[in-house]
Amino acid sequence: MSERTLVLLKPDAVRRGLIGEITGRIESKSDWAVTALELRTLDRSTLEQHYAEHVGKPFYEPLVEFMASGPSVVMVVEGERVIEGVRALAGPTDPIAAPPGSIRGDFGTIVRENLIHASDSEESAARELKIFFPDFS
Ligand code: TYD
Ligand code: MG
Repeated sequence: MSERTLVLLKPDAVRRGLIGEITGRIESKSDWAVTALELRTLDRSTLEQHYAEHVGKPFYEPLVEFMASGPSVVMVVEGERVIEGVRALAGPTDPIAAPPGSIRGDFGTIVRENLIHASDSEESAARELKIFFPDFS
């Protein structure tokens, strides 16, 4: 079933010159397409909405600070089972636990700086796409 998901290449990925590498992995999957893409420095209010489920957790403040520390790539990816699929390409949250071959497993070491965000369910995708692309239909 064709779906739409929100993907962020986080400030660490942009600073390290990994936009092409990571976007290429996503683009290479058959029947998936990047349908919106922008380099954007995320403001606090956007990040507070995006990470609302994590408010109050010990990692929340440093996470928001990190996410606002430089430009991210904000994109919409569409295609067959793309929500589950981009999560699988990204790998588990902790890059040390993420297997080689996954984006986090290949490029990350620090949990906070784990390179990529991808919506984790249909509900999250709908909610997050509205935050980042309110005019996109
Ligand atoms: P979470 O939604 O649990 O992970 P995911 O991005 O895999 O859906 O957490 C959101 C982000 O918060 C995560 O990508 C990195 C950061 N984070 C930390 O900095 N420390 C932590 O202990 C956790 C769980 C997450
Ligand atoms: Mg999450």
